[in-house]
Amino acid sequence: MSTRPVHAPLNQFAVAGGELLVGGIPLSRLALRVGRTPFYAYDRALLTRRVREVRAHMPAALRLHFSVKANPMPAVVQHMAGLVDGLDVASAGEMKTALDTGFDPAHVSFAGPGKTPAELAQAIAAGILLNVESDNEIDNAARIGDRLGIAPRIVVRVNPDFELKGSGMRMGGGAKPFGIDAEQVPDSLRRLAALGIPLQGLHIFGGSQSLKADAIAEAHTRGIALALQLATDAQLALPGLYLGAGFGIPYFPGEQALDLAPIGANLAQELARLDAALPGTRVSIESGRYLVGEAGIYVARVVDRKVSRGQVFLVTDGGLHHHLAASGNFGQVIRKNYPAAIGNRMDGAADTENVSVVGPLCTPLDVLAERMDLARADVGDLVVVFQSGAYGLSASPTAFLGHPVPAEVLI
Ligand SMILES: Cc1ncc(COP(=O)(O)O)c(C=O)c1O
Repeated sequence: MSTRPVHAPLNQFAVAGGELLVGGIPLSRLALRVGRTPFYAYDRALLTRRVREVRAHMPAALRLHFSVKANPMPAVVQHMAGLVDGLDVASAGEMKTALDTGFDPAHVSFAGPGKTPAELAQAIAAGILLNVESDNEIDNAARIGDRLGIAPRIVVRVNPDFELKGSGMRMGGGAKPFGIDAEQVPDSLRRLAALGIPLQGLHIFGGSQSLKADAIAEAHTRGIALALQLATDAQLALPGLYLGAGFGIPYFPGEQALDLAPIGANLAQELARLDAALPGTRVSIESGRYLVGEAGIYVARVVDRKVSRGQVFLVTDGGLHHHLAASGNFGQVIRKNYPAAIGNRMDGAADTENVSVVGPLCTPLDVLAERMDLARADVGDLVVVFQSGAYGLSASPTAFLGHPVPAEVLI
C-alpha cells in the first residue's frame, strides 16, 4: 500500500486506498470505531515524531515542557508526559490531569494570572512550581504555605520589556496582566527573600505562534540576557529558567513551516554563555501548539448537500461550536480556511468542486471551509479539518446551541 503526504507541508498525515490514514487506520474505518461523528483524532506516532524532531534540533541540555492548555485530553497528556521533561499547566484542573499521569510534581509548573487561594493551596500541597504573576500572589502563596506547613516552590514570571515579534499572540512587553514587570522584579525578589522563600527560577514568555525563526531566536536571546541580569543584580542563583518556545505552525496558504535549526543553534550558544556566567541554571522551553497541533484532525460528517444561488454547501454535523479557531473565532479576525479535505475521497482522481462547508448552527459564522476546492462529496462523506490538534475542542464553545460534544480519540 503506497502512502503519500497530504497538503505537505501543512500536515503530516498519509493517504492510502483513497482514504486518509490516522495511526494507520483508514478514516471511514476509524469513524466506525469511534461510533459517531464529529470527533477529534490525534495520532500518537506523529506526536512522538514531533517531540523527537524538536529534540534533534535543540541543545541536549535544553529541557522541553509541554503546555497542557494546547491539548488537555488526558490520553494525549499521558502520552506527552512520557516524551517531555516538564508539564506546564494553567489551572487546578490541568494540574490534576498532569499529576494523574504520574509525572514528577517537581517538573510541573502552574502559570496564569488570578490564581485563587484554593488553587494556590492545591499547587503548594502538590509540590509543583508556582509561576507567580504578582506580588499579591507571592504574599498569598507565603501565607498559605505557612498555614499548610509546606514551603511553596516559587518561580517569578517576568513581564519582559520586549515581545516576540511577528507572533500570533503577544504575551510580553508593554502593559500586561501576565507576570511582574521586569523593572519591578528586583523588588519582588527582595520580597521573596524577606519571606524566606528561595527562588526556584524565572519564567519569561514573550509570545506564541511565530513562524519566524530569527524573531524567536532573538526573543530567546533577550529572555536569557534578562534573566541573567535579574539574577546577577539580585546576587541569586537561578535554578531554573523557563522560556516560551514561541514555535508556531502553518495554517494558511503561503505560510511556511518553522525552521528549527537556527533556533537550536542560537540556543546552544546562549546556553553556553549562560552556563559560563551562571553555572547550574537549567533552561526549559514551553511549547504547546507546535508539539500537538499538526498531529490532530477534526472530522465531521456531511448531513446535507444543498445549492443556494449556484453555491454548493456541504452541511455537516460539526462546526464552530467544536472548532472555534477553524471557523474564524466568532468573526473577530479575517477568516481564512484551515486546510481541509474529504477524508474518504482522497484518491486524487476524484472530481473536485468548489464548496462551502458549514455547520448546523443558525449563524453565518458557522463555517469550516469557505469556497474551497474539495473532492465532490455527498451526504455521509467525512470532512477533515487539519492542523486541529491544538486549541481545538477545549478552546471551543461546546455549549453554544446545545448540540452534542464531539468525541476525542488518540490513535
Ligand atoms: C505561559 C504560557 N506558556 C505556554 C503557552 C503555550 O503556547 P504555545 O501553544 O503557542 O506553544 C502559552 C500560551 O498562551 C502561555 O501563555
